[in-house]
Amino acid sequence: MADTINGLKRTNMCGELTEADIGKSVTLMGWCHKNRDLGGLTFITLRDRTGEIQLVAGPDSAEAVREAAVKVRSEFVLAVQGEVALRSAPNPKMKTGTIEVNLTELRIVSESQTPPFYIDEDCEANEQLRLKYRYLDLRRPDMQRNMILRHRIAKSARDYFDEKGFLEIETPMLGKSTPEGARDYLVPSRVKQGSFFALPQSPQLYKQLLMLAGYDRYMQIAKCFRDEDLRADRQPEFTQIDLEMSFVDCDDVMDVTEGFIVKVFKDTLGIDIPTPIRRITWQEAQERYGSDKPDLRFGLELQDISDWAKTIDFVVFKGALEAGGFVKAVVVPGGASFSRKEIDALGEVAKLYKAKGMAWVVPSAEPRGSFLKFLQPDDISALAAKVGASADDLICIVADNFKTVSGSLGQVRIAAAEKLGLIKKGDFKLCWVTEFPMFEWSDEEGRFMAMHHPFTCPMYEDIDRLESDQGSVRSRAYDIVLNGCELGGGSIRIHDRELQMRIFKLLGFTEESAQEQFGFLLDAFRYGVPPHGGLAIGLDRMVMLLGEMNSIRDCIAFPKVQNSSDLMTEAPAPVADKQLDELAISIREIVDNSGEE
Ligand code: AMO
Repeated sequence: MADTINGLKRTNMCGELTEADIGKSVTLMGWCHKNRDLGGLTFITLRDRTGEIQLVAGPDSAEAVREAAVKVRSEFVLAVQGEVALRSAPNPKMKTGTIEVNLTELRIVSESQTPPFYIDEDCEANEQLRLKYRYLDLRRPDMQRNMILRHRIAKSARDYFDEKGFLEIETPMLGKSTPEGARDYLVPSRVKQGSFFALPQSPQLYKQLLMLAGYDRYMQIAKCFRDEDLRADRQPEFTQIDLEMSFVDCDDVMDVTEGFIVKVFKDTLGIDIPTPIRRITWQEAQERYGSDKPDLRFGLELQDISDWAKTIDFVVFKGALEAGGFVKAVVVPGGASFSRKEIDALGEVAKLYKAKGMAWVVPSAEPRGSFLKFLQPDDISALAAKVGASADDLICIVADNFKTVSGSLGQVRIAAAEKLGLIKKGDFKLCWVTEFPMFEWSDEEGRFMAMHHPFTCPMYEDIDRLESDQGSVRSRAYDIVLNGCELGGGSIRIHDRELQMRIFKLLGFTEESAQEQFGFLLDAFRYGVPPHGGLAIGLDRMVMLLGEMNSIRDCIAFPKVQNSSDLMTEAPAPVADKQLDELAISIREIVDNSGEE
């Protein structure tokens, strides 16, 4: 049904008018984007979700229309009628730039104060202001495009998984804490005072129970909550395209996910993603790219130069190698032209990611470098030959244990690629990372933690080493990575109660503490569990990456900022004493972690 405004019915959307409509009488509704009064001739640009159209109130318009037109200001809401005509001075920048509407009626439906920033593409207002007035920010065409893309991706997901036999089943928001590794958001219970619900970090346990309940294939566009430090690709409240399947192995989950990724790229960007998507083991990803989420849009791979470094009398190399570590290098093509300051900036990146420092060499006729006094001329040519570097290149080197070398040099690799402009818009490179370590040592906790989550199944060939060599056990987990960002992750789960108890034990749970936290799952595991596995894709991240946005906030209608607050509603906020009384909560001592002035 058309929208009705005091007897007016909208006939068209602004951005959808074309030259085929010339001569037609149309009724449009929207916001005034711009108003130019040339004295007796007024041009108004009217905007709705679909785009803009020029309206004209001129000598042929009724007096009332001309009078109303000059009163219109930016962001007034208008309902207008008029005839579509060819524009004498076309505007090639506008989609409807060859036509205009000569007004026969103009109603000001709602007035607007002058907005705090100009509502336009590529807004230059600072983000804080945009977020405070998010409803105005969301009027901007680029934000509207982002929201539409988000809708399209969610729609693609529902269509695809429905076609593949998945059922969308909702799981609770008020539940019990699930261990995805972040802090929970808690909700106090009024009825059971002193007890708390946890908002789900993911629907992990519920979806496993749905497999146990015989639903076979589940999907959900699920809200998740994690109280963790925010980054450009993290929000405390985010959305997953979550799935789980019964009677499957890794390949089944990965194949079904690939099908979805292919469809999403085709549906939204018209891009054909080649399949099968490349698979890289975690070990190889760390060795070659220094990351468990390698960016494959560029080369600059890490190269092991430990053999060469062994021959050099340089204490930094010797120390690392004697301690069982590695010496690795990244060749930056053309990096010989970098200034000392630019090279030092790469060194700072290495240090930020825990390297003690970064050594470097330019293997030109008159070599430059940070440790030349330890090198003979032959050493430099041998190194250049080993890593395939020419006189124009810069060789960046880090010596340390495997984790630190990978982590720091991996980041140097990315910083160098950014500096060289190797990352191109419109380039999408995907890969799977497989065979993750099952456990990760935490210095902070002084024990092994689950790298994915405690329900992940170890690789069968490694199960024998669970107790004898815990750190070497690999899991049946996989991540899907897009342009160096973890888009999604999942695993085949443990479906055997005994094995699950064994893993809990290795993670430091006692029989009692496991029962207390996951009793419902362990009880359920007594009643016939199908082998199952699944995956969750971060919907927000997917929209951000496909839309090539700078921040995850740009694809969320009402996002939180760095300190997890909402600048528009000013949530979180104190509540009335009465509400606290009902919950039997009293505020003891307030520590302000918000970082606000
Ligand atoms: P995981 O914790 O890897 O797995 O999360 C899956 C995907 O969710 C997205 N994601 C986030 N997006 C925005 N902000 C955040 N704070 C955030 N945290 C995670 C990422 C990530 O790849 N239950 C398991 C999945 C499974 O095993 O099936 C899980 O949640 O894109």
